[in-house]
Amino acid sequence: MVQNKEKNRTEQLKAIRAELLAAKDSPLYHYRQTNHYYPVIGEGDHEATIMFVGEAPGKNEALTAKPFCGSAGRILDELLASINIDRRTVYVTNIVKDRPPDNRDPAPEEIAYYAPYLDRQIAIIQPKVIATLGRFAARYLLEHFNSPAWSETIGQLHGRPIAITADFGPLTILPLFHPAAAIYNQKLKATLLADFYQLAEYK
Ligand code: URA
Repeated sequence: MVQNKEKNRTEQLKAIRAELLAAKDSPLYHYRQTNHYYPVIGEGDHEATIMFVGEAPGKNEALTAKPFCGSAGRILDELLASINIDRRTVYVTNIVKDRPPDNRDPAPEEIAYYAPYLDRQIAIIQPKVIATLGRFAARYLLEHFNSPAWSETIGQLHGRPIAITADFGPLTILPLFHPAAAIYNQKLKATLLADFYQLAEYK
């Protein structure tokens, strides 16, 4: 039974991958094709209780199809190690599944296009907590789940767990700063480490 449930989740996630690979109407499809990039769907345990949602793939991610595998990923790995969480036990994804040009912020129409795929991933995995990485993921998910906190800045939100009722049950959203912001900012890295500590209870 458990095996069937797992198989079912894997199949549903594979269907998302297939759809995104074929989605020629996506706003970043031509840019992806021209640069021989991949869409970055997500990676990790399909039964994870902890899910991370970042912004959009960078160049390394788009070349390998793996989320957070560049310099921001190294910070994420450090943060996970700080609370003894094995990355293979969590699920990591982004709102926007294709790389926007020049590492620019995702455009509203890109978020609107890709977000339904993220919504489906959340409904399939049914995590207990979603740690949002950066302001775009926090804003999108808090608004999506009708939390009045959606309009607050990431400076106000970070490290404050927000209780949500999802269709599949109770869910906590933990807004965090984006790990890329901590690459050259030790003060922000210390804040991220302190905020991250709250995820230990979901191991
Ligand atoms: N930044 C993100 O938001 N996501 C990635 O996958 C990599 C960098």
